[in-house]
Amino acid sequence: MIEVSKELLNRLKHAEHILFFTGAGISAESGIPTFRGEDGLWNKFKPEELANFDAFLRNPDLVWEWYEYRRKIVREAQPNNAHYAIARFERFYKDVTVVTQNVDNLHNRAGSSNVLELHGNIEKNYCLECGKRYDFHEFPDTHKVPVCEKCGGKIRPDVVWFGEMLPAETFAKAEQKAAQSDICFVVGTSAVVYPAIGIAYRAKEFGAYTVEINVETTQFSSAADETFIGKSGEILSDILQLAENQNNKIL
Ligand code: OAD
Ligand code: ZN
Repeated sequence: MIEVSKELLNRLKHAEHILFFTGAGISAESGIPTFRGEDGLWNKFKPEELANFDAFLRNPDLVWEWYEYRRKIVREAQPNNAHYAIARFERFYKDVTVVTQNVDNLHNRAGSSNVLELHGNIEKNYCLECGKRYDFHEFPDTHKVPVCEKCGGKIRPDVVWFGEMLPAETFAKAEQKAAQSDICFVVGTSAVVYPAIGIAYRAKEFGAYTVEINVETTQFSSAADETFIGKSGEILSDILQLAENQNNKIL
């Protein structure tokens, strides 16, 4: 069991609003590659050739195929202990929000009820021309970009590419939840991508106790009230156990 501060125990006992801000590292134990670091996706692939709108217009099939490759990894993966621990926090606190940069859908699959996806969801798609939505598994495994049944337009994944805006309503809701939160856990993110990481800073600014969980220190570490170095699956399982003890509830 990890050692935690008295302050964190106290917060776990009295908190009503809990925020989890997550990044690719939370899914590493599910076998999904992160973006940065030695085995990171951005070391093998070029964001400018794959993750932006011009790239899609230039070579839609290539971009579509790259997302198919990542969808396959995500579908074959399972949520890990970190995703499940977060979902179980809902048993002890009336307001648990997950703000994630991840597009892998694993928080939803683990059972979290309030997931705000800042960068979209790789399982969702929409038509570039008419906006018709195509959700989940609607396309056969294909190497070519599918076209809209309504208008013939190209279909793109509902993810945020470089240079694109974050979904405004989702971001506004995340800001609101950040401001309300009593504890903000910042999990598995290198904390370098804005505006997303701004949510964690906002939580701190509005009085949340900020707890970072990562296998290494990050740019957020100096702002965090407490940092746990280790795998998020293990550390969040321990913190869930402490939350349970503090709340004296039977699982
Ligand atoms: P990164 O790949 O930048 O960072 C992953 C973080 O997870 C690193 O800080 C690792 O140390 C940490 N990590 C790895 N394994 C871990 C484990 N088992 N437990 C805990 N931490 C672990 O991923 P993000 O911060 O999510 O944006 O990247 C942010 C955004 O950059 C992504 O959403 C994506 C990317 O470009 C878009 O696609 C718009
Ligand atoms: Zn269409």
